Amino acid sequence: MSQQSTAVVLGATGKTGRRVAARLEQQGVEVRRASRGSSPRFDWEDPSTWAPVIDGADAVYMAFAPDLGMPGAPETAARAAELARTLGATRLALLSGRGETEAQRAEAMVAQAFPERTVLRCAFFAQNFDESFLLEPLRAGMLALPVTDVAEPFVDLEDVAEVAVAALTSDAHAGRIYELTGPRSLTFAEAVAEMSGASGRPMRYHPISLEDFAASLAAEGMSTGEIDLLRYLFTEVLDGRNSMVTDGVEQALGRPATDFRDYAARVGSTWAVEATA
Ligand SMILES: NC(=O)c1ccc[n+]([C@@H]2O[C@H](COP(=O)([O-])OP(=O)(O)OC[C@H]3O[C@@H](n4cnc5c(N)ncnc54)[C@H](OP(=O)(O)O)[C@@H]3O)[C@@H](O)[C@H]2O)c1
Repeated sequence: MSQQSTAVVLGATGKTGRRVAARLEQQGVEVRRASRGSSPRFDWEDPSTWAPVIDGADAVYMAFAPDLGMPGAPETAARAAELARTLGATRLALLSGRGETEAQRAEAMVAQAFPERTVLRCAFFAQNFDESFLLEPLRAGMLALPVTDVAEPFVDLEDVAEVAVAALTSDAHAGRIYELTGPRSLTFAEAVAEMSGASGRPMRYHPISLEDFAASLAAEGMSTGEIDLLRYLFTEVLDGRNSMVTDGVEQALGRPATDFRDYAARVGSTWAVEATA
């Protein structure tokens, strides 16, 4: 990609989008950050907002919200991909999730609309522990989830962002599907123990039923839509089907994936400083 290339980052204020946008800019790519708060605004629920954001872009990073696995998401994502191609984009990186029937249907529909796309089919994000719904319970010292001994190869979003940028700036990744995982599967209890060790804070893990989990989220004021999304995640994705480690990061970047221990060390050192401040 030349210095003058333009990339649109959809979901630019999110966990992956902000990393992708920052890395693209470091490489001299002109970045259009898009979300419902950007100007011009981009809203998945309002297709009339799409063209003004995408028009003229060479590459598109597509992080669908709230989740590519939700009903209707495949059709919407494919429609946006088709528009991007019509408007001249030649590269598209689609963020997706492993083991999700609807997400895999979205991948196929986006591939039909935009055959050169690269799919980033990700494991459960490590950053869910410090940038999402696991943060508050973890900092309070007790994480309770409806998962017992299922292991998950949590993927570091710095790796995901690096793969996305490679796909958006080089033709070498056109048409590829990368299954992106960390190099090691951990249970949630093991992950919490690593976060506790790295931060020096006491943290425990406690498995609970799906119903108790949903009730605790409702008591904290979470919306029904968000609770349904988490119910879906814990029943559809975290049942062991995704426990296997893959070498997708190595295939895409030619180096091993980042271990959860290194992610925990980065986050833990920040939390440890906060605790003594
Ligand atoms: N969490 C996981 O472990 C995991 C694993 C695999 C795949 N995924 C996939 O990751 C995707 C989410 O990516 P992420 O975690 O980077 O994002 P995120 O942190 O959940 O943030 C969502 C982003 O989308 C924007 N957004 C929300 N609603 C929107 C709408 N109606 N129209 C346009 N933009 C909207 C938000 O900005 P505004 O609110 O400002 O609009 C924000 O930039 C989902 O498709 C999910 O399936 C997640």
